[in-house]
Amino acid sequence: MNSGSILKIINAKIVNEGHVFEGEILIEKDRISQIGNEITVEGIHEIFDAKGNYILPGLIDDQVHFREPGLTHKATIATESKAAIAGGITSFIEMPNTSPQTTTREAWEAKNKQAEATSFANYAFMFGGTNDNLEEILALDNKKVPALKLFLGSSTGNMLVDNPEVLREIFRNTDLVIAVHCEDEATIRKNMENAIATYGDDIPISEHPLIRSEEACYLSSSQAVALAKETGARLHVFHLSTAKELSLFRNDIPLKEKKITAEVCIHHLWFSSEDYGEKGTRIKWNPAVKTKEDRAALWEGLNSDLLDVLATDHAPHTKEEKENKYSQAPSGGPLVQHALPALLSAYHQGKITLEKIVEKACHNPAILFDVKHRGFLKEGYFADLVVVDLEKEHRVETSNILYKCGWSPFEGTTLKGSVERTLLNGKWVFKEGEVAEQSAAKALTFDR
Ligand code: DOR
Repeated sequence: MNSGSILKIINAKIVNEGHVFEGEILIEKDRISQIGNEITVEGIHEIFDAKGNYILPGLIDDQVHFREPGLTHKATIATESKAAIAGGITSFIEMPNTSPQTTTREAWEAKNKQAEATSFANYAFMFGGTNDNLEEILALDNKKVPALKLFLGSSTGNMLVDNPEVLREIFRNTDLVIAVHCEDEATIRKNMENAIATYGDDIPISEHPLIRSEEACYLSSSQAVALAKETGARLHVFHLSTAKELSLFRNDIPLKEKKITAEVCIHHLWFSSEDYGEKGTRIKWNPAVKTKEDRAALWEGLNSDLLDVLATDHAPHTKEEKENKYSQAPSGGPLVQHALPALLSAYHQGKITLEKIVEKACHNPAILFDVKHRGFLKEGYFADLVVVDLEKEHRVETSNILYKCGWSPFEGTTLKGSVERTLLNGKWVFKEGEVAEQSAAKALTFDR
């Protein structure tokens, strides 16, 4: 579309703010100008007939690792944001465990510049906290940075914040949301020593959820929650993996009033410890995929609003890296292209409604991080949306994977519900299976 042009979408089933309704959407330039029925205006340049398909706001994924700079043999901002667009994710918030780490304002600016030049999706970058960068944190422009990311348990990139005084100072002094990876280091180390004593150098992958155990998760997340309560900090706990941790969160107040929030990721909802036998290290994540009972509790926690956000933790590694034996195989896997189709498949299985998917993956990340004018289908908001065909099936295969690493934990799986089109800032950037080469991406801005 040219700037100044008007797009009208007709025959859509619109999923937004707790409702599904038939209607039309009018888009002028990069914004939604009207939502209604039988909209008539002058100067329409394009009418898109959705033919009864569903339209959702573009997803906002608040936890991705796109590996640039420094780890570009695994992925780049360009390759992974392109896969995100094909998966209906129109905005992403990226993590600081790159090389160099995003722990200085200079590194943060450089990432933004690279995204401005190459990203296919709207972007923002979290700032990483370390044991010694409090001054940098306090000098940040909080209107530009979505949140602070702290690893309270080490994972890829070794960014552990393990000095309790520093941690307390950060919690006391920043107004930013503090997003945390919670796994207790000492517990993991002890469990690892025990596993080595039993198995030597040949630890089976099925030990992963016992090494990175429920206890390790609970100890760390309960300490983070206690510190947030003590200091009044705004805490967001990433990727919950256990039933036990759900007791730390509440669902009796609206998200806007919560000071402590929590998130669940696709892999912890899809896989369970029973899948290690078939999938091996391909489903090695930190925190680990746990039991079927944990998975069922996470679905319940999501539906009952103990969990506020659905994200991916998209974390690609090469096939060769993943094929190493347990102790050397890195944790993480790519997800942005398949997260929404997996959620739509879960909808067909009766696990979640379309309205809940939209609440947790579109609305709530926008509310939680104060993302300006996105995450909802609303007049005056940016026209980021996804057209989905709920009935269309899609088998995930090497040939249709867009990630630079070229593999997916869903390979061989048929997902029901496909992304037909993606509109980004008023432009079709994905249709007929192709991502447009010319990007319409913008930096996310924050309404604070
Ligand atoms: O499994 C994971 N992989 N968990 C993390 O926290 C980091 C991520 C990565 O960067 O590979």
